[in-house]
Amino acid sequence: MVVRQAIGSFFFLAFIVLQQGADQVKSQQPDGFVQTNGTRFIVDGDIVYFNGFNAYWMMLESSFPSERGKVSSALEQASSYGLTLARTWAFSDGGPWPLQLSPGSYNESMFKALDFVISEARRNKIYLILSLVNNYESFGGRKQYVQWGRERGQNVSSDDGFYTNDVIKGYYKNHVKTVLTRINTVTGLAYKDDPTIFAWELINEPRCESDLSGRTFQAWIEEMAAYVKSIDNKHLLEIGMEGFYGDSMQGRRQFNPNGYVFGTDFISHNQVQGIDFATIHAYPDLWLANWSSGDQLRFLQNWTQIHVSDSSTILKKPLLFTEFGKSLKPPGSTVNQRDAFYGQVYGSAFVSAEDEGPLGGGLFWQLLAQGMDGLRDSYEIVPTEQRSTASIISQISRRISGLNNRRRHG
Ligand SMILES: *[C@@H]1O[C@H](CO)[C@@H](O)[C@H](O)[C@H]1NC(C)=O
Ligand SMILES: *[C@@H]1O[C@H](CO)[C@@H](O)[C@H](O)[C@H]1NC(C)=O
Ligand SMILES: *[C@@H]1O[C@H](CO)[C@@H](O)[C@H](O)[C@H]1NC(C)=O
Ligand SMILES: *[C@@H]1O[C@H](CO)[C@@H](O)[C@H](O)[C@H]1NC(C)=O
Ligand SMILES: *[C@@H]1O[C@H](CO)[C@@H](O)[C@H](O)[C@H]1NC(C)=O
Repeated sequence: MVVRQAIGSFFFLAFIVLQQGADQVKSQQPDGFVQTNGTRFIVDGDIVYFNGFNAYWMMLESSFPSERGKVSSALEQASSYGLTLARTWAFSDGGPWPLQLSPGSYNESMFKALDFVISEARRNKIYLILSLVNNYESFGGRKQYVQWGRERGQNVSSDDGFYTNDVIKGYYKNHVKTVLTRINTVTGLAYKDDPTIFAWELINEPRCESDLSGRTFQAWIEEMAAYVKSIDNKHLLEIGMEGFYGDSMQGRRQFNPNGYVFGTDFISHNQVQGIDFATIHAYPDLWLANWSSGDQLRFLQNWTQIHVSDSSTILKKPLLFTEFGKSLKPPGSTVNQRDAFYGQVYGSAFVSAEDEGPLGGGLFWQLLAQGMDGLRDSYEIVPTEQRSTASIISQISRRISGLNNRRRHG
């Protein structure tokens, strides 16, 4: 989703109460490189399904010495709930807390903060999806890259020049290379050799509205997927899509919420060589704001089902729910409605895991530790506050881990 850069209070560290029975789940997580085999994720030859969360703020939070403990406690907490996969930003371009100060120039303190996040994830046996740039302005994004290009004499008419201008594409490639070849100062491992990393993500929630055919974005994916793989062939790669359909398959656009067309195409983009699995997001509360909660759930059912089916029969690649969430902000929104929404996402994920289907797991938006009030966005789950939701999350995680373990041990 569109991350509001609401960074306020970073203080008041508090550990979240650990859920009981946690160690049992934690000790059984796999730790090899994640790969794919057809529509499934595999680790060390076994089919594995994941459950997880989004925490885009981990590098930023780790960059403040007094706040670092929150990253550790959030990861420990998540692990205790049986969560095995987190998605976070490996970018912060320009702006107030830059990782990349200007093209090719990096803040070593910020990189050390990312090193810490990866090492803490590893310690807690949580895999990481690392996203490499934002579509939106928060933490820089395409707009910052285009501005850097303009400041250096490039004639770019819109932010979509991010996808076409050679100099700007060069800045992005340089960022990819810098991150992938970074040697972690905590573990000594190059990021590209670290099995803690589940996958790279090209761009969070891409859009290219100056070319609704999807061809401009398609060409960018082809170029960048090949580039990532030329540096790192061990890790999986995904695009970062929300799942909107384009015109490559007749009749699919009708599944987009609200008539959305953003110059992206779930089918053709995910068919690109080097893209190892597909992703979807689900925010029916934003996309279909004036629909009833029940109708939003019916939309979700269709949205999930069509993407599962396309991943299975057309793409023949796994699918992950890399973001889903429901705000408690609109008047009348209740925790019960949110729990029903989570329950439906998890229900689909579990059915798929049981059948060895393509839907490999769900990452809710977003986990916060206690004392991170400045990062609240009305989608947050602070497990000690939303106990009913936390309980749903831990139950599904345990059931999925149970399936994984049963498969692994025959
Ligand atoms: C991939 O799956 C097929 C069956 O679907 C199996 O025969 C093969 O051994 C698997 N390959 C790996 C590397 O796990
Ligand atoms: C680099 O990052 C550290 C940690 O966030 C910060 O204190 C410092 O001001 C940053 N330096 C620059 C030049 O942005
Ligand atoms: C920038 O590009 C536009 C469209 O391609 C062109 O019309 C314009 O003359 C260019 N401006 C400069 C300063 O080169
Ligand atoms: C929701 O709003 C759109 C226009 O913003 C309108 O076309 C549609 O009929 C509305 N739907 C409902 C269920 O009220
Ligand atoms: C779900 O899909 C069915 C069949 O394609 C369609 O008739 C129905 O209107 C869809 N419901 C929603 C809420 O999108």
